Amino acid sequence: MASLTWHGHATCSIRLDDGTTLVIDPFFDDNPKADISAADVEADWILLTHGHGDHIADAAPIARRTGATVICSVELSEHMAAQGVEKIHAMNIGGGYDFPFGRVKMVNAIHGGRVEGAAAPATTTSPCAGYLIRADGIRLYHAGDTALTMDMRLLEGQVDVALLPIGDNFTMGPDDAARAVGMIRPRLVVPIHYNTWPIIEVDPQRFVDEVGDTSRVRVMEPGGTLDLA
Ligand code: NI
Ligand code: MN
Repeated sequence: MASLTWHGHATCSIRLDDGTTLVIDPFFDDNPKADISAADVEADWILLTHGHGDHIADAAPIARRTGATVICSVELSEHMAAQGVEKIHAMNIGGGYDFPFGRVKMVNAIHGGRVEGAAAPATTTSPCAGYLIRADGIRLYHAGDTALTMDMRLLEGQVDVALLPIGDNFTMGPDDAARAVGMIRPRLVVPIHYNTWPIIEVDPQRFVDEVGDTSRVRVMEPGGTLDLA
């Protein structure tokens, strides 16, 4: 059975039935909530939502060590290549692709587009992306860092499990994230991108209360695992 592990912040890994492992937004060693260090992360595929350090910090080292393929925006792919990542699959917002493990579609997110650590000042034209991942019969949505956006209405009926930021300040807070749940109507929602630092400190119960009966909410602890079936 496919399972999802939350490593704190926006960092998640998904282990599929055949053992294939996807890691989204690898941020381990400088992530105060991470349950493991980057050196212990297994990955076959790494997906990046955008270029901020709290989403890409450990991407290149993990990709170089494991030989994982990095899936990201075109602009971010150039930064990954410059860091010695050999296997890269560049995409852009609105596009989907059938990978060996399943289908990935890059969807809109509203956020900032700076690529941290790039040799020259760099931004992505599509600042941030969310991902719709379809694998092992599960449809998973990782929203990336985003504001509440009407585009989320487009996801209604397409998502079983949604990972939504609730930390406020840099992304949606609990209220807007609950409105997003009302638009998307996933079967299950997992709050992410909160309580990593004081500036995004949020009581997840506020989100649980706001969502109410619209969807089931699973508040996870870093290192916690969830069966996706
Ligand atoms: Ni960000
Ligand atoms: Mn972030």
